[in-house]
Amino acid sequence: MSTATSQDEQFWNDLYDRSDRIWSGNPNAALVREATHLSPGHALDLGCGEGGDAIWLASRGWRVTATDISRVALARTRRYADEAGVGHLVDGEHLDLAVSFPAGEFDLVSAQFLQSPRELPRERILRRAAAAVRPGGTLLVVGHAAGPSWAPPEHQETLFPRAREVLDSLALAEDQWEEQRCEEWSRPQEGPDGQPGVMLDSIVRLRRRER
Ligand SMILES: C[S@@+](CC[C@H](N)C(=O)[O-])C[C@H]1O[C@@H](n2cnc3c(N)ncnc32)[C@H](O)[C@@H]1O
Repeated sequence: MSTATSQDEQFWNDLYDRSDRIWSGNPNAALVREATHLSPGHALDLGCGEGGDAIWLASRGWRVTATDISRVALARTRRYADEAGVGHLVDGEHLDLAVSFPAGEFDLVSAQFLQSPRELPRERILRRAAAAVRPGGTLLVVGHAAGPSWAPPEHQETLFPRAREVLDSLALAEDQWEEQRCEEWSRPQEGPDGQPGVMLDSIVRLRRRER
């Protein structure tokens, strides 16, 4: 990617600059649930944020290519991975997925909450993500399926795709893929003031059949 900062990158850098840590540092619950049983190989994390997932994968023996549009996020991923003692297993790649995509094939391609208030060609990126899964490998797409339970009603009107819509948008050849999970998952999460709340996620997990 060029060294110039695009408006999309600036948006995300500004968000990350608001605090030393934006996300919890923990891996996403859906990743832990869906990937714990997988044998380690080479994983691609799309929109890795501050690296919670990449570090969890690396601590389980995965080599991880961690991508993000934000240099601030990637610098944190690098720092936290080093602090966790897995920096040698995590490669950060700075890119705008709307423009380019990492080369190669991967045993796991994971997109966790690759969603943005900025324009993002998510469906196109996810189709490219599917193409990057090696035969026998896994595609895992997790996203918001609804706004948080504590959001005001006007924010509840934002439309988020359900798991079946995400799967259909991938337009995959059915004989080449095994559908392993396609569902909504409701999980408890505290709201900003510590009040109990609920998040609804969409989870799509697919295995690419061996050729
Ligand atoms: C909602 S955050 C999710 C971060 C992380 N996957 C997680 O679950 O904690 C979305 C991430 O996608 C990144 N992102 C947004 N647009 C992107 C783009 N066009 N190319 C690459 N990364 C992008 C953002 O910088 C941000 O780190």
